[in-house]
Amino acid sequence: MDSKVTKADKKIQEIISRKKIKDSSDRKVGSEIFDKITLETLYKLSNKGYINILNGAISTGKEANVLKGIAKKEKLIAAKIYRITTSDFKKMSYYIDSDHRFNLKSKNKRQIIYSWVNKEFKNLKRLYKVGVNVPKPIISSHNILLMDFIGDEKGNPAQPVKNQLPKNPTNFFNKLLVQLKIFVNEGNLIHGDLSNFNILNYNEDPVIIDVSQSVVIDNPIAKELFERDVQTIINEYKKLGVDTSYNEVYEYINPNFN
Ligand SMILES: Nc1ncnc2c1ncn2[C@@H]1O[C@H](COP(=O)(O)OP(=O)(O)OP(=O)(O)O)[C@@H](O)[C@H]1O
Ligand SMILES: [Mg+2]
Repeated sequence: MDSKVTKADKKIQEIISRKKIKDSSDRKVGSEIFDKITLETLYKLSNKGYINILNGAISTGKEANVLKGIAKKEKLIAAKIYRITTSDFKKMSYYIDSDHRFNLKSKNKRQIIYSWVNKEFKNLKRLYKVGVNVPKPIISSHNILLMDFIGDEKGNPAQPVKNQLPKNPTNFFNKLLVQLKIFVNEGNLIHGDLSNFNILNYNEDPVIIDVSQSVVIDNPIAKELFERDVQTIINEYKKLGVDTSYNEVYEYINPNFN
C-alpha cells in the first residue's frame, strides 16, 4: 500500500476508534470493505470537517453501505457509500441515460457510479428544498453521499416502515400521500423505487429515502415508474388495512406528464 492509502486508512481507523464500538461488525468500515479512492474521499471529507467520527453500520445493502457518523457540534450524520465493485451499472446507466440532466460521455464504471451518487444528491437537494420529508443532503463526493441522520439523539436510526409498521396505518398513509404530492408536483420527480423499504417510520412520520433512481417528471420512463410506485404502495398499505385504491391515489397526486 502506498503511503497515501495507509494514511487515509489510518485516519479512517482513527475516526472510527475514537468512539467505543461494541459490535465487532461495526469495525468493518475501513479498508476491508472500501477501496483506495473511497478511503481517500473519506479522508478528504474528514479533513474538510464534514465527518469527525464514523461509528457504525446502519445498513449493508447490495450496492451501498450506510454508516452513521458524527460531524461538527456533535451533529449526527449518515454516510451512504456505494461500493464500486458490487454496483449494478446496467441499472444505473439505464436511469442516467434517459435523464437530460446527466450527460454520460464516458461510460467507465467509476464515472457511472459518481454520476449516480451525484444524481441522488441533486434529487435530495431538490426534494428538501420544496419541503418533502427527506434527509437533508450535506455533500456528495465521488461515491459518497453525506446527509442528515434520521433517528433519535442517541444514534438509534429510524427503521424502514417494513420493519416498523405504523401504529395507525391510515394516518401514516395519508401523511405519505401529502409527501408524495409535493415530491411529484413541486419536486417534479418520480421516486422510482417507492416501497416501505424506502420509507422510514420516524416517530410515526414518513421520511422518504433512497432517491438515486428518481427521475424528472418529463423523463420518458417517468409515467411507468410512477404507476409502479403507486401500485406498490397501494398493495402494501391495503395489506396494512388502509382503505384506498389505485385510482384514488392517482387522482389525488394528479401528476402532470407531458
Ligand atoms: N439518512 C439516514 N438516516 C438513517 N438511516 C438511513 C438514512 N439513509 C439510509 N438509512 C438506512 O440505510 C438503509 C439503506 O439506505 P438506502 O435505501 O438509501 O440504500 P439502498 O440503495 O437501498 O442500498 P442497497 O441498494 O445497497 O440495498 C435504509 O433502509 C435505512 O435503514
Ligand atoms: Mg433502499
